[in-house]
Amino acid sequence: MYDVTEIRRDFPILSREVNGKPLVYLDNGASAQKPQVVIDAITRAYAEEYANVHRGLHYLSNLATEKYESTRGIIARFLGVRDEDEIVMNTGTTMGINTVAYGWGMPNLQAGDEIILSVMEHHANIVPWHFLRERQGVVIKWVDVDSTGYLDPEAVIAAMGPKTKLVAVTHLSNVLGTVVDVKTICQAARERGIVTLVDGSQAAVHMPVNVEEIGCDFYPITGHKLYGPSGSGAIYMRKERMAEMQPFVGGGDMIREVHKDEVTWNDAPMMFEAGTPGIVQQIGLGVALDYMMGIGMENIADHEKKLRDYARTRLDGLNWLQVQGTTPDKAAIFSFTLDGAAHAHDISTILDKKGVAVRAGQHCTGPLMDHLGLTATCRASFGMYNTEEEVDKLVDALELAHDLFA
Ligand code: ALA
Repeated sequence: MYDVTEIRRDFPILSREVNGKPLVYLDNGASAQKPQVVIDAITRAYAEEYANVHRGLHYLSNLATEKYESTRGIIARFLGVRDEDEIVMNTGTTMGINTVAYGWGMPNLQAGDEIILSVMEHHANIVPWHFLRERQGVVIKWVDVDSTGYLDPEAVIAAMGPKTKLVAVTHLSNVLGTVVDVKTICQAARERGIVTLVDGSQAAVHMPVNVEEIGCDFYPITGHKLYGPSGSGAIYMRKERMAEMQPFVGGGDMIREVHKDEVTWNDAPMMFEAGTPGIVQQIGLGVALDYMMGIGMENIADHEKKLRDYARTRLDGLNWLQVQGTTPDKAAIFSFTLDGAAHAHDISTILDKKGVAVRAGQHCTGPLMDHLGLTATCRASFGMYNTEEEVDKLVDALELAHDLFA
């Protein structure tokens, strides 16, 4: 039985007020709030368990290493990965995709090779590929979404040609809420010898994910969206692909030996974890993922589906509001514009006065905004702790904004 009231009690910030009103936090797509267990784990790690990892022979260093490394196993379990050596811990999806672009793309791609992206990718899954386009002559091919925001896997498959080396698509759009059939795309890519990266930043928060079932080569996630600390994260990298990669960031921990004229690398995943990592952040992430798995990803997904349906019905009732992204099985992420000249930033400022936190702007998706012919939207993105009453508060605040600008 999913008890949202009890879950809300786990998140201290949810009981605060903003602008004299109870906080209605609907900016989970940007970053999620943290449960007390994560906050306690961070405090405990600094107060009682802190030292550097992988380096010391003393008690605290071993303890910190054990705690830090246990997160690798938790992430593997969370993503359905059997071999935890396929998990590289890092600061999140941006670092993960850059690691793939520099570590796999640079040594393996030549001028004229093609990378397929969907038009609704986040900049984190666009800009690193632009580096390869600018520096190595790699060609980016774009696949559009339809008017509902649906990405047809057949359109992605049709774009795959003899020069295609990589398909990099989101699992769940941070703007439209579209859930992509990545399994069909990855299977088709694999049959053609094409490497796949699935951006899991949003999907892993809202649904059970099993990367081995999806069959992708790379799957990055971001800890701060997963109710964990900022600066935490990971990427799943298939062993076969790791063997084709060069290290991206150089420094301590990622080497085996360093001499004046020679350097050799540590084995993966350490080869991709240079320098002192986010020790406490990763410990906190492990606790956050355990917390989510304790509630159950299926249960979280079911709760959010109910919220999505309720929010959809309420927002559909506002004939002066246009929602972008209307696929039936989308996630509880609603980007919208209002009739008239009101800018998304002005709308969000009015919502904020009512204690309702949403994001407004481009949402780091320039090509999608061009495709939609928009410069900005407001976005309400729901999480495991949101309620139908909060949907009502969003709608009340929107009605106020509409009245002011009408
Ligand atoms: N990627 C985050 C968002 O969509 C920041 O808001």
